[in-house]
Amino acid sequence: MAKRRPLIAGNWKMFKTCEESVESAQKLKTLVADVDAADIMIAPTFTSLFPVHGVVKGSRIGLGAQNLHWQKEGAFTGEISCDMLVSAGCRYVIVGHSERRQFFGETDESVNRKIRAAVSAGLLPVFCIGETEAQRESGETFSVLDKQVRDGLKDFVFDAPAGVVVAYEPVWAIGTGKTATREQAQEAHAYIRSLLETLFGKPVADAVRILYGGSVKPDNVKALMEMPDVDGALVGGASLDPETFSKLVFFND
Ligand code: PGA
Repeated sequence: MAKRRPLIAGNWKMFKTCEESVESAQKLKTLVADVDAADIMIAPTFTSLFPVHGVVKGSRIGLGAQNLHWQKEGAFTGEISCDMLVSAGCRYVIVGHSERRQFFGETDESVNRKIRAAVSAGLLPVFCIGETEAQRESGETFSVLDKQVRDGLKDFVFDAPAGVVVAYEPVWAIGTGKTATREQAQEAHAYIRSLLETLFGKPVADAVRILYGGSVKPDNVKALMEMPDVDGALVGGASLDPETFSKLVFFND
């Protein structure tokens, strides 16, 4: 089977004003102008989406949002719909990031609604899963991943085999400087891929890209990317500086 096309995705979280986002996007666009071997996504804050779209449209950088609401519109103060994201220029949306699960009450059920809404609107969801340190230590990693995948993709129908991107992000590795070893990442990714095969069949399991996230940096990206089931990275801290992030995009050099 041909290797899946890598995706290097930057999650800017709650960093950068509109001006700073535009400036970073401009720098990144120049730095990655020649990249051919990977897809690139950046996810600025909501307020920066449209201005950044003005910079990256027509380039190799795809725009992503960090969250969405599943309703089309309505009296939901503070929320953003898929159509609004599409009209701001988004192609991707991060769903179920552990910070949203931990601090904003995101559940597997809301994640499921969001994934289905995103795909219906033509967005590619980056569906985040991962165990906490306590869960890993008590040997629950696979059962946690199993439940997150089953519930997050409940009643989901893949129109296209690669219609969702999964991001495996062990919570203990996010923003901590503790990266999973590449063997730990591969073991989790292989588990997720075999579960996708059980639930959705081999064409889906072969096509879905599974990103690793959690303290990915220029000095560990290549080793992670060499693993057969690691198809890219979801990057927080190291995505904020365009120079550093561009090194991740050129992980093979
Ligand atoms: P990090 O964040 O790269 O800063 O660990 C990853 C993420 O939260 O997606």
